[in-house]
Amino acid sequence: MTDKTYVLAIDQGTTSSRAILFNHDGEIVAVDQKEHAQILPRAGWVEHDALEIWRNTRDVVAGVLSAAEINRHEIASVGITNQRESVVVWDRTTGEPVHNVIVWQDTRTQRICDRLAASAPGASAEAPDYDRYKDRVGLGLATYFAGPKVAWILENVEGARERAEAGDLLLGTMDTWVLWNMTGGVDGGVHATDVTNASRTMLMNIDTLDWNPEICADMGIPVSMLPEIKPSSGVFGYGRKNGLLVDTPISGILGDQQAATFGQACFEVGQAKNTYGTGCFMLMNTGTTPVRSANGLLTTVAYQIGDAPAVYALEGSIAVAGSLVQWLRDNLGLITESKDVEELARSVEDNGGAYFVPAFSGLFAPYWRPDARGALVGLTRYVNKGHIARAVEEATAFQTREVLEAMNRDAAASGSPGATLTELKVDGGMTRDELLMQFQADQVGVPVVRPQVAETTALGAAYAAGIAVGFWSGTQDVVDNWAEGKRWLPQMDLDERERLFRNWKKAVTRTLDWVD
Ligand code: G3P
Repeated sequence: MTDKTYVLAIDQGTTSSRAILFNHDGEIVAVDQKEHAQILPRAGWVEHDALEIWRNTRDVVAGVLSAAEINRHEIASVGITNQRESVVVWDRTTGEPVHNVIVWQDTRTQRICDRLAASAPGASAEAPDYDRYKDRVGLGLATYFAGPKVAWILENVEGARERAEAGDLLLGTMDTWVLWNMTGGVDGGVHATDVTNASRTMLMNIDTLDWNPEICADMGIPVSMLPEIKPSSGVFGYGRKNGLLVDTPISGILGDQQAATFGQACFEVGQAKNTYGTGCFMLMNTGTTPVRSANGLLTTVAYQIGDAPAVYALEGSIAVAGSLVQWLRDNLGLITESKDVEELARSVEDNGGAYFVPAFSGLFAPYWRPDARGALVGLTRYVNKGHIARAVEEATAFQTREVLEAMNRDAAASGSPGATLTELKVDGGMTRDELLMQFQADQVGVPVVRPQVAETTALGAAYAAGIAVGFWSGTQDVVDNWAEGKRWLPQMDLDERERLFRNWKKAVTRTLDWVD
């Protein structure tokens, strides 16, 4: 333990950037947050302004220090966690991005994915192989991942390919962008990422944790653009003057879902968490061996502490959860604030027969159908906005059940005893919604458990950063600090539970084959 009092976490998320200060007990001391613009140039495209994100990050760091009335000398270290797969390409000498961030939800790279699948050995346009890299990187070809997004930028931004080949451009997921700027930017900024973020690019070998030059070549990405891959917990660099935290070590980086897994203390094989944010992501710890899924899940790195072997996870990714509630608020105006969805949903007894499949970015796990588009089905004259709100809430719970069942099938196939989930640890903003959490427990048929600190994403990044500098002694401190906040038990009659789920599955079939 050092003489410092706090660890700072920076959570660069999909809709906002936040700075959260934690004390040694893992409790929140102060928070600051700033939203950034969601740039939607056309259907399926989602962008962010990287410079706005960096400005906001600096502002919230300053904001949290002033809210807590402390200075940088009281901070032991900084952890960064981030929206994953979103990627930016910038000029190493000017620090100027060559294009907006292409966000993880963006589907513009479908043609690039189709082309790569069609040119796989033994494949053709008629018989494409979307799994051509799966053995090497743990991921099937999909618009979700960062590599094809970089390929798109190099193919579509004038002059970008030449500048990249001349070594003038750098690429990074949002952790790398924040780290590079905090550590000096054009004046010697550290160009690095951690194993968890690298595992979402499609460019890293999942077994060796090195960049794969062949895949980079297939996507036309010069290796000189890539950041150095480092463990999640370990010193990446030190704050420099434009980052406000001069000389403070930045010693933890994890993609947000992996950070939540860490913050939820899922350190044993078979332990899992589900985070309800913009999307919804369930990760199950599979130990030091990467497990390949036969049921539509991703193989990903969960974390790596210093020189210890990396720990892997199976992941079920759901693209749309909280963002469907925002859509109800912003695009339909049915509610004024996101939290109002619960009250509106409670104004009716049930979903009135309506089911909402929010396939806004195609369907992710366990289907991986880029051709899917959203559908609201089962409508009659009877359905009102309360039923629609309920269908919105239930969509997240049904999708979670599908992912959990896929996980249990993979666990059963791996023959690992006791790996079937007996309870579901949850976190994230939507877990404040009691109606949703009860329905979730009803659907998954096991208890749903929320910790006292539901900000586990930022907390996980703080723990990784604190462990690296001895502020916490190791993962046992995380386990000791974890405390149960609330538990929801399944209550619904079994027939009703299955009837609703059958209808949901039928609704899913109505969303497929929409894109030519
Ligand atoms: O993979 C995308 C994920 O990292 C985004 O998380 O918090 O926006 O749901 P969130």
